Amino acid sequence: MSQDTVSIKNNTSGEEAEFPLLKGSLGTPTVDIGTLNKNLGIFTYDQGFVSTASCKSDITFIDGNKGILLYRGYPIEQLAKHSSFLEVSYLLMNGELPNKDELFSFTDEINHHTMLHEALSGFFGGFHYDAHPMAMMVGVVGSLSAFYHGELNMEDPEHRRISAMRMLAKMPTIAAACYRHSVGWPNVYPRLDLGYCENFLNMMFSLPSQKYIEKDNYIDPITVKALNLLFILHADHEQNASTSTVRLASSTGANPYACIAAGISALWGPAHGGANEAVLSMLAQIGTVDKIPEYIAKAKDKNDPFRLMGFGHRVYKNFDPRATIIRETCYEVLERFPTDDPLFELALALEEYALKDEYFIEKKLYPNVDFYSGIIYRALKIPENMFTVMFVIARTAGWVSHWLEMMSDPTQRIGRPRQLYTGYANRDYVPTDARK
Ligand code: CMC
Repeated sequence: MSQDTVSIKNNTSGEEAEFPLLKGSLGTPTVDIGTLNKNLGIFTYDQGFVSTASCKSDITFIDGNKGILLYRGYPIEQLAKHSSFLEVSYLLMNGELPNKDELFSFTDEINHHTMLHEALSGFFGGFHYDAHPMAMMVGVVGSLSAFYHGELNMEDPEHRRISAMRMLAKMPTIAAACYRHSVGWPNVYPRLDLGYCENFLNMMFSLPSQKYIEKDNYIDPITVKALNLLFILHADHEQNASTSTVRLASSTGANPYACIAAGISALWGPAHGGANEAVLSMLAQIGTVDKIPEYIAKAKDKNDPFRLMGFGHRVYKNFDPRATIIRETCYEVLERFPTDDPLFELALALEEYALKDEYFIEKKLYPNVDFYSGIIYRALKIPENMFTVMFVIARTAGWVSHWLEMMSDPTQRIGRPRQLYTGYANRDYVPTDARK
């Protein structure tokens, strides 16, 4: 059978070579340029990986122009409507939706891995009271590698599976402990009888004098629904910056907990997972509705570094399907928790203003998922510096799924990008006292 190919010609030397054109089950065909250097003696340059696939993956598909997001083939809209975060995590990790028994044992196993080693809990005491929770997340999740290393056999799929389960299970416990350290409250242990989101909320907000969940286990259903939905929408997003970081670190065979800590670091930035926190800081900076035109003008000014946080996306160029889903819940949450907080009115006015602005329309800059997630988290009384930590909890499902996928791929190689060197060509060393 003939294989589709792409020819690349060096117009200076006249040399030309053919390369296989790979076609996935969906999406843009991809030229395999693995032998480009061998055949033509050149590399490719693609700053920001705008046109470069770094791996083959079965997990998530995005069509940025059509606003499509599929987890293992299932549209995000269907999962958001019918599924739960743990069910979606099972799907991402295992490739299929679980049946009733499989979901029961998965949930049970996750619950049994939620505890932290007491020595690890002691690590929090080393952080200053005002340490950013993301700084603590990087440190504490990375430190899990000190607890699970010697016995870890990365060749064994069962060892890998348990490592992935541990990370998913412990992330809410670590996240809540980060928050409690910052406010000086004692930690709350996870409860085996609660669901994933309920457990997290209880560990975050319970006080010795005022339990978050009362005897009858009542918890506000809109809060749990919103949290579950945000976790589903943030669970995976194919080869984004943090997932690619996890893959690159893992390609060296490093300890998986350390690799996930690397992913957490990459997620922290305001261009990625830090955007939801940055949206709230931006709204505080704008201050009042009458200042919106001034800030929109700043966002459009090429000489001004100000950008409208929560707008635009590298991949979605028409609309972010996650934003469409979450927008509805955002309004539902604001209705459930009526407030006179002027920030919400400001956010909705900014959304309306930007959506009508020519610059934003022309550049296809629409609110992304994190414009709304920040607003929802604020309404749920999650502190602003915890917003990106919430993203970490959700994205752990994606990170561990990509880690499991790459670790079971026999063709996997160490990631080692090339560069276009632009420094000095060659120069001679000058002794210190002879330098000008
Ligand atoms: N405000 C104003 N102008 C913008 C914005 C914005 N938020 N985003 C992009 N632009 C302009 C940009 O100046 C550029 O203009 P020009 O063509 O004249 O040079 C054009 O739109 C294309 O932008 P880009 O920077 O080349 O696009 P990118 O794909 O490199 O960046 C982005 C994508 C998400 C980093 C960027 O849109 C941004 O900084 N947005 C704000 C931060 C944000 O909300 N990030 C969260 C993304 S969703 C969560 C996640 O998946 O991690």
